[in-house]
Order: sequence, then C-alpha cells, then structure tokens
Amino acid sequence: MITKSIDSSTQVPPLGGQGVTILAIESSCDETAAAICRDGNILSNIIVNQTVHEKYGGVVPELASRAHLQNIVPVVDQAITTANCQLSSIDAFAFTQAPGLIGALLVGLQFSKSLSLALNKPLIAVHHMQAHVLANLIPDKKPDFPFLCLTVSGGHTQIVLCEDYLEMKVIGQTLDDAAGEAFDKSAKLLGLPYPGGPFIEKYAQHGDPNKFKFPEPQIDGLDFSFSGLKTAILYFIQERKKANDNFIEENLNDICASVQQRIISILLNKLKKAAEQTGIKNICIAGGVSANSGLRRSFENLGKQLGWKTFIPPFEYCTDNAGMIAITAYHKYLAGDFADLSVSPSARAEW
Ligand code: KG4
Ligand code: ZN
Repeated sequence: MITKSIDSSTQVPPLGGQGVTILAIESSCDETAAAICRDGNILSNIIVNQTVHEKYGGVVPELASRAHLQNIVPVVDQAITTANCQLSSIDAFAFTQAPGLIGALLVGLQFSKSLSLALNKPLIAVHHMQAHVLANLIPDKKPDFPFLCLTVSGGHTQIVLCEDYLEMKVIGQTLDDAAGEAFDKSAKLLGLPYPGGPFIEKYAQHGDPNKFKFPEPQIDGLDFSFSGLKTAILYFIQERKKANDNFIEENLNDICASVQQRIISILLNKLKKAAEQTGIKNICIAGGVSANSGLRRSFENLGKQLGWKTFIPPFEYCTDNAGMIAITAYHKYLAGDFADLSVSPSARAEW
C-alpha cells in the first residue's frame, strides 16, 4: 500500500484562495464525473451516466466499477480540456470518499491518489452528502450561514443545519427508505424503468395530484419514513387491479401525480417544522430528488408563504456530479484539510 502522506515535499500553494485550481472526481454510484474549479468557480462539469444498469432495474455494483474504469480517463480528459487548463496547473486532486459503493468509490479514489502522487500535489477527501449541500454555493445567488438544507437523494434523506462551509449537523433523517428510493420503488411497482424518479415526474405533469390519497406517516421530530408509503402503494395497486387489470395503464398520470404529491408533502412538512424549530429562514434543497420540478415549485411556493429565502442548485448540480465535490474540496483546501495517501473509501461513513 502507498502510504506517502502530505509532507514538506508536497507542493501546497499558499492558502488564501488566489488562483487555486482543483480537479474533482465523483464515482460513488453510477455516474462517472469530473470537474475543474478555480477559486470556487466551476470551469467544467462532465458527467457520464452509466446506461448498463437499466435492464437490471437498479445499479449492479460490479458493473458500476467496471464502467467507471472505462469512463474515468475520457471524463477527466474532457473536464481538463473544457476548462482550458493543463494537468500540470492543478493544485489539488479531490475525490468522493464516502458514502457509496466501495468498488465504485475505489476507482475515483485510486485515480486521484495516482495523480496526487505523480504530480506531488495534495489530495482532498470529500463526503458526498456534504457536497450535495454545498452545491448550493455554486450559483451566484448563495445562502448566508446558518442555513438549512433538505438533502434528498437515492440513498439519503436529511435535514442538515449548516453553520459554516464545513460545519454541518444532520438534525433529521429517514428511518428507512430515502425519498429517491420512494420514487424509484413506486416507479418499479408501476412498471416504469430505473431510475424511476424522472418517469414519475414526467407522468405526474399530466395527472391530478388529489385523485388518490396515500397516507402521510406520523413520525416524531424531524425524522422521515417512506417504507409505509411503498407498502400502501403496493396494496393499493393490487386491490385496484383485481377490479380492472388495466388500472395502471388507464390511471398512470393520476397515480404518479398523487404519489409525487405525497412524497413532496412529507418532505416539506418536516422542512417547515425544522425551520420553525431553528428559526432559520435561509433554506436550501439538494440531491437528485431536488431536480423534481414539482418539489422545486412547491418548495418555492412554501418559501414565499413563510418568508424564507430559498435556494436550489441548477439541475446539473442536483443529481450526482463532480462540481459539488470540487466546491467542497475548495473550502477544505482553504481550511488546509488534506487527506493522507493511506485514505480508504467508506460505504457508510457519517461526517
Ligand atoms: O443524488 P443522486 O443523483 O444520487 C444519490 O446520491 O443517490 O439521487 C438519485 C435519486 C434517484 O432515486 C432518482 O430517482 C432521483 O434521485 N431523481 C428524481 C428526479 N431525478 C432524479 N426523483 C424525482 N424526480 C426527478 N426529476
Ligand atoms: Zn448523490
């Protein structure tokens, strides 16, 4: 194992944020992504989606690792070319360290380590969920601290209290399925492809969100639960299909609109509670599910009603991307928070 650490021979430019260029890699699941950021501005953000998983109805970890291996060189190359910079002008190499699929994380981690070692530049390990939160700092319109962020992805649903760039606390989270899983599992029950979130959104646009009523779980505090919703949808479909075998086909738009509406109301009711409890009015959303236009609209409407300042990352920074890893790495760079070459990936690490 390589155990060279950041020592006096590693070239770390003076901290202070002037002309700092970072190459970031994201490979935690089924997107291979690379981005270049200079002084907190994203110069390129390249994402390659792996289509190999579609026919399996979910991500196959071994196939994800192999696809990352195939994609990583061209993706990094394109990120560097698009940013119009050179490998030799990169000041630090960042990668997603956790959470994610171990084999997939390893690809980005080893690639970054190799570059760090070969070019004698520091290495920065980034937590994927922290990066989703800080994607809100990419656009010109940025939240002031402290802010709350509802982070909704395929594996996590969290309300995060963010006091400073790297000072974050999870104050509410799901006890079972994540919001993205609720979308994906509902879609699967309806015979829609993986990942199902974007398909539910597409059909929901033409449906009546009040047509079918699905239950809202009563969970204490700021935590969430989505497993009951999945079971309720399963029984609902089984029951209706007994009377009409074409029930799904004939009602797809209304079912999707009703499911989406319920997921949104579960999320926003807890976010509202968190804002009341903390008194914070700078509120963000982030993560793959924040690409959902229904959630974005309802969130902004609620914010208007309650006098919040609302923030949502642009679409390309909602689902998995390396731009968010780069912006987080930039703040870690300024804080002098570098990783050792012995750093290893973690499937579940908290921050
Ligand atoms: O953040 P992300 O890209 O990856 C993880 O870190 O998990 O989130 C992926 C999740 C999937 O569950 C996917 O179905 C969901 O985000 N998603 C959406 C939409 N786009 C992606 N869910 C609802 N509506 C969308 N438009
Ligand atoms: Zn993610």
